[in-house]
Formats: sequence, structure tokens, C-alpha cells
Amino acid sequence: MLPTVIGKLAMMREVLVDDIQQVWEWENDPDMGLYLNADPGKRMSMDEVRRRFQQYRTDPTSGLFIICTLDKLSIGMLGFDRLYRDIGTCRLFIGIGPERYRGRGYGTDGLRLVLRYFFRDMGVHKVQLSVYDFNTRAMASYRKCGFDVESVRRNIAYVNGGWCDSIEMAVTLDRFAELEPVWEAEWAQAGTEGGTLEASGSQRFSPPA
Ligand SMILES: CC(C)(COP(=O)(O)OP(=O)(O)OC[C@H]1O[C@@H](n2cnc3c(N)ncnc32)[C@H](O)[C@@H]1OP(=O)(O)O)[C@@H](O)C(=O)NCCC(=O)NCCS
Repeated sequence: MLPTVIGKLAMMREVLVDDIQQVWEWENDPDMGLYLNADPGKRMSMDEVRRRFQQYRTDPTSGLFIICTLDKLSIGMLGFDRLYRDIGTCRLFIGIGPERYRGRGYGTDGLRLVLRYFFRDMGVHKVQLSVYDFNTRAMASYRKCGFDVESVRRNIAYVNGGWCDSIEMAVTLDRFAELEPVWEAEWAQAGTEGGTLEASGSQRFSPPA
């Protein structure tokens, strides 16, 4: 089971069965299709969303966090897969659904919280992701979370009349360890200390040890 963690803007919690309809809507949103798959026309069936939900709940190498505001409004998702404890790596994707919640720091805060979970609690030493070169906001957010470019896959997709590249980015445990004190200070200032709720819906609040 994934923890529920609270930052200065975002609360991250495990996906619940009640989220399936919302996840389906995000998966079929043209903007999300563009940013996540370089394909605004990409569609995902409800059966596939349900299949993935089951996988997230049963396969420990993958999972899905729902990104919420501090007053528990669901605004996006952060998924991961290939979490291999023996080699200590995993891959993730992130997407905030409503445009009005993008560019306001929720994704960056949520991503930092989940990075701390991977590095501190899951023994991961490197987290990887891919981003299309036209997605400058996402790349800026990833850099704010410590990610650096590792490689570029050229002309990976044809979108909006031109070829785009896939930028492969990663953040290591060493880099995380440098940045974490700054993030912790921000969470402390916000009064949440990046704390963990024992379970979704619980009112109990316990800051990390
Ligand atoms: C990518 C995403 C997770 C980033 O999270 P976010 O909380 O919106 O990011 P932030 O608000 O912290 O912005 C990060 C930086 O991007 C830059 N930025 C903000 N809005 C921007 C915009 N419209 N265009 C370009 N850069 C922008 C800023 O430099 C900002 O840092 P600053 O606020 O310190 O100046 C979120 O925007 C999102 O989900 N977008 C749609 C889906 C998507 O692109 N997913 C990623 C697929 S790889």
C-alpha cells in the first residue's frame, strides 16, 4: 500500500476504486495525450484503466498516486513502474489534469514527495522518466526536482507538424540527498514537514522520523 504524504501544496495518496472514472477522463484528455504520449488523439478504454488499476494494486513494481490539493481535491496522477529493488531503479510519469492547476507548483511539490518515498523508503538509487522536448514546463519542473538529462532519442514522434525528441532524464540518490534538506525546510515552513498520514482518509498526522 502506498503512503499518503503531504507537502506545502500537494497531498499524494494511493489511487482508490472511486478514482477510476476520473483517471479514465485524464487518460482520454487531449492535453494529457499530447504531453504524455505526443498524441492528442490517444484514447484508453475503461477496461484498460480498470486492468491497470488492478495491476497497480497487486504488482509491487508499479503503482499510482493521486495528486490532491491540501483540501483533498483530486487534480492529477503520478504513476510508476519497473520499480526493481534489486537494481534500485524505477520510472515514473506525472500529469495534472485541469489546466488551471498546472504551472502553480502542485506537480513539483507532489513529485518531490514521491521522490522522497522512493529514495528513503523503497531503497531506490535512481529515478528515470521521459519527456518530449516541446514540454518546457515539465522539464523545468523536473530540474527543480533534481533531474538531469541523460540522453536524447531523436525524432521519436511527429506532432503539430514537426518531429520531436524524447528527452531521457534521471535523478540519483546523491542528488536527492543534496536537495532534500531544502525541500524539508519548505515543508516545515508550510507546517506539514512532508508528513505521512497512516492511511487514506485518516486524520492522524505523523511527521517522518
Ligand atoms: C509537468 C507538470 C507535472 C509540472 O508541474 P507543475 O506543478 O505544473 O510545475 P511548476 O508550477 O512547479 O512549474 C515548474 C517550472 O516550469 C516553468 N513554467 C511554469 N509554467 C510554464 C509554462 N506555461 N511554460 C513553460 N514553463 C513554465 C517555471 O519555470 C516553473 O518554475 P517556477 O515556478 O519556479 O518559475 C504539470 O505542469 C503537468 O502535469 N502538466 C501537464 C502534463 C505533463 O506535461 N506531464 C508531464 C509529461 S512528461
